[in-house]
This record gives sequence, C-alpha cells and structure tokens, in this order.
Amino acid sequence: MTDLTGTPETEIRKGLAGVVADTTAISKVNSETNSLMYRGYPVQELAEKCTFEEVAYLLWNGELPTDEQLVAFQNAERAQRHLDVHTKRVIDELPLSAHPMDVIRTAVSVLGAVDETLTDPASMIDADLNMQRSLTLMAKLPAIIAYDQRRRRDQELVEPRDDLSYSANFLHMTFGEVPDLVVVNAFDVSMILYAEHSFNASTFTARVVTSTLSDLYSAVTAAVGALKGQLHGGANEAVMHVFEEIGTAENAEGWLETSLAEKRKIMGFGHRVYKNGDSRVPTMKAALETLVAEFDRPDMMELYDALETAMTSRKNIKPNLDYPSGPAYNLIGFDTDMFTPLFVASRITGWTAHIMEQAGSNALIRPLAAYSGVDERHI
Ligand code: ACO
Repeated sequence: MTDLTGTPETEIRKGLAGVVADTTAISKVNSETNSLMYRGYPVQELAEKCTFEEVAYLLWNGELPTDEQLVAFQNAERAQRHLDVHTKRVIDELPLSAHPMDVIRTAVSVLGAVDETLTDPASMIDADLNMQRSLTLMAKLPAIIAYDQRRRRDQELVEPRDDLSYSANFLHMTFGEVPDLVVVNAFDVSMILYAEHSFNASTFTARVVTSTLSDLYSAVTAAVGALKGQLHGGANEAVMHVFEEIGTAENAEGWLETSLAEKRKIMGFGHRVYKNGDSRVPTMKAALETLVAEFDRPDMMELYDALETAMTSRKNIKPNLDYPSGPAYNLIGFDTDMFTPLFVASRITGWTAHIMEQAGSNALIRPLAAYSGVDERHI
C-alpha cells in the first residue's frame, strides 16, 4: 500500500529508535541486564584485567592476544606514535579558536590524504591495509591530541617514548611527564570503557560511509563529526561545564530544579539504550574515586553524588559514562575541550572494527523516507 505521494506506508521510528539495522560480532549491549560485552567478554572484566592495547587487539581480531602477539602489536603501535610532518604543519595552521574536535577531524583527513596505499577502489577496503590504517590512527591520535592541548598552552611538542604503555605515553606527551600509576590506570580504564558500544550514532555513521565503499579515513572523519555533538560524545565536556556552573554540592538540588524548569537536558544523564543505568558507570566511578583520593578532591565526589542523587529522585534518570569520565579527565589535568577528543582516541578502535566488519559483509546503507512535503504541483 502507498500513500498519495507514492511512499510506502510504514511505521516510522524517529531516530531509528529500536530499529535493528544489521548484525555485529564486535560487542553486545543488553539493556535488560545492563551489560556490555566486547567479543563476549564483560567490559568490567576487561577494564580490571586487561590494558587498552589488549582490548584494541581483541576488538580488531576477535580474540585476546597471546604474549607473543601482544609484544608484536605493542611494537607496531609504538613505532608509529610520532606526529608526522604533514599533520603537524596543518595543525599549526589552524586557529586556536578551532574546537579540538575540529582539529582532530582535520588531522584524520590529512592522514587519509597522505596515505599512499589508497590507490584504487579495491585498496580502499582491503582488509589487511585497513588493519594497518586502524593501528596507525590508534598510534597517532594521542600525539595529535597532546600536541593540540600543548600548543593551546603555548608549550612545545613532546616526543613519544617507546618504552611506555599506550596510556602512560599519552599522558607523557600531554603533560611532559608520566604521572603516578594510579592516574595512568584510571586513564587506561576510561580508554577501555569508551572503546566500543555497538551501533551508536558515530559508529553507525562510520558504517554508512563504509557501505558506499569509501575509505577508512573518510568513515572516521565522519564519525568524529557525529561524536562531537552534545547528545553523544560532547556530553563529557558538557558535564564539566555543569560542574563548574553548580560550584559546590549544596547548590546541586537548586541548580537541577532551575535547569529542569528551563527544560534543559542534564548532560551526563540518560541513555538511548540503557534505561536503568549505563553498565560502564560503576567501573568508571571507581576509577574517578581513585583520582579523587590521589588529588585529595573530596569536593568533586560530593558534587558528583549530590547531582546524581538529585537527578535520581527528581527524574529517575541515571548517569551515563560521560558523567564520571568528565570529572576524571579534569582531575588528570586535561583542558575541558580535550575531553571529547579523548573519547575519539579510544573509540577509534571500535569504529575501525566496525568499518572492517561492514566492509567484509557489505550492503549499501540507504533507508527510505516517508515524504511529508506539499502534494505534486506544477510551475
Ligand atoms: N536530562 C533531562 N531529561 C532527560 C534527559 C536528561 N539528560 N535524558 C532524557 N530525559 C528525558 C527527556 O526529556 C524525555 O522526557 P519527556 O518524555 O518528558 O519528554 C525522556 O527523558 C526521554 O528522553 P529522550 O531524549 O527521548 O531519550 P533518548 O533515548 O532519545 O535520549 C539521550 C537519550 C540523547 C542520551 C538523552 O538522555 C540526553 O540528551 N542526555 C544528555 C546528553 C548525554 O549525556 N549524552 C551522552 C550519551 S552516552 C555517550 O555518548 C557515552
């Protein structure tokens, strides 16, 4: 059956809510049990027992690495950590008024433009080349982010160290020194928790671009754009702005009342899939608590708890991962507008796993729309 304009009559799921678009073997989100698994492993277990490098390997290869495979993987990642000359030159040209997400999107685009293996349509979706490109992006994003924060602070580029883990080197390149292990570990946990989350908006964006047989860098560039928005990755920055606005724990309840009366969305709360709490939050909250102890900032935790309590009792809407990760990144020392780029550094692993999965079993993603404009007319 069709309507007057020839469009099939069908149920429209605004925002594709509840629509199952394809299968994936990369991760499983179960909203009933509030659980998330990467390749079958509960994310909490991965955060407790694995490093971000092991998780990246798992997402891309389907299995955790053996000791030998891990060493080879780490060596390959460490060998590519430097900021290449083309990317540095382009970043240097960008104004400091550019949001760091715009810098990172541009940098990924530059890396694509200088990749000489992108020679023909087949090479764009070649599985081995895509695996190498994914590792290159994972290895170089910390250099891009660290350099961008440093140039905004009028500081020189810090060269990478190949004797450090991914997270220790990331912090070394950003701050010029390796912080205490407790800080490195909390950061690594955040990288693991942000790595993958099924068909979220940015991952789906990457899959849409890949489905046209475009290249991996184009898909990632588009995904960065999708992640930037406040309803998605941009929320971790927004949480910090909320904390700054509220100031201290005793203001939380009043601030929430006013904000809800103004019909504001409270950043860091709510989730499209998890309606009873984001399964990643307890692990990230525990990591935040270690940072609060390390930096002796009980006031941060008091504010965190006060707003969560107020939001639960007022709306019964639970925090998502951005709620604990925002203040955690603040305590580690990142500038607030660097928080969403940190999400990119982690999610590059999930995005590229999905790009490779989509390319390996492709169908052009092209939904229909029900026409709602004026009826046929003539000039
Ligand atoms: N603050 C206030 N009210 C909220 C919030 C919130 N954070 N989240 C949901 N609600 C309310 C809505 O106003 C709506 O109420 P109504 O039915 O009275 O109109 C109801 O809950 C349903 O909300 P929707 O926005 O329709 O739910 P949806 O599934 O589309 O949205 C979303 C999920 C976008 C994440 C939403 O909860 C939100 O905007 N949160 C704030 C932004 C945020 O934290 N994003 C991070 C997402 S997780 C991540 O990227 C790691």
